[in-house]
Amino acid sequence: MQLVHLVSDPLAESLSVNKRVSARFIGGLRAVVPDLSIETLELDRDPPPFYDRELFRFVWEPVADPAYRPSASERAAAQYMQRHAEILRSADLLLLSAPVWNYYLPAILKAWIDQVLSPGEMFELGARGRVPLHRIRAMVSIVSAGGRISNEGYDRSLFHLLQATFQYAGIERHHELLIEGQEPALYADHAQREAQGAAAAERLAVAIAQDLADANSA
Ligand SMILES: Cc1cc2nc3c(=O)[nH]c(=O)nc-3n(C[C@H](O)[C@H](O)[C@H](O)COP(=O)(O)O)c2cc1C
Repeated sequence: MQLVHLVSDPLAESLSVNKRVSARFIGGLRAVVPDLSIETLELDRDPPPFYDRELFRFVWEPVADPAYRPSASERAAAQYMQRHAEILRSADLLLLSAPVWNYYLPAILKAWIDQVLSPGEMFELGARGRVPLHRIRAMVSIVSAGGRISNEGYDRSLFHLLQATFQYAGIERHHELLIEGQEPALYADHAQREAQGAAAAERLAVAIAQDLADANSA
């Protein structure tokens, strides 16, 4: 099984709750999936460029005009997207790890999503509607927040948007884990919450492995 791990937090694991909990998820998965292989995409080490007009033409012109041929600068603008989309297409399972920044996800991750989940890369867009070009069977999002964002339902809006985005690209099964109240100055129980999140991540890994195995044998 191929896992692609999308990492958007620039902090080292020792300082990052979402990275530590994700490591527990991966540990749980390793224990039950002997053939697990992992590709990690650390976005702060390999940042996406912003979406520019060359990339826009490369992605969207073919949808309107099948005779379109990209220029050299348009092909150059598409290189990051193509490299990352190829990695993502190899995944059976996608793990997204992120902190909450200003009620949503870090901008570097949004920039990555905008270009990698593109027609022609992750799905076909045309006469047959939207047809996935990948084989991802499930997606797991592990998200940490300094505040108790679920008190006012902000976790629901974040996960709702995230699901809609990946669903558009044909990823139908979503699992989410929120580790909130992680600001130590405000929440004395932050470590306990992290420990609960890590235990939940391990259980989730086992459940997903079982789910995928059951689907294989059905
Ligand atoms: C730029 C920035 C914006 C943030 N915005 C929010 C926010 O909107 N809501 C929140 O609960 N915490 C916010 N935080 C706090 C992080 O979510 C918090 O530090 C979280 O625990 C980070 O987890 P990590 O240890 O996994 O990096 C923000 C932090 C930064 C650096």
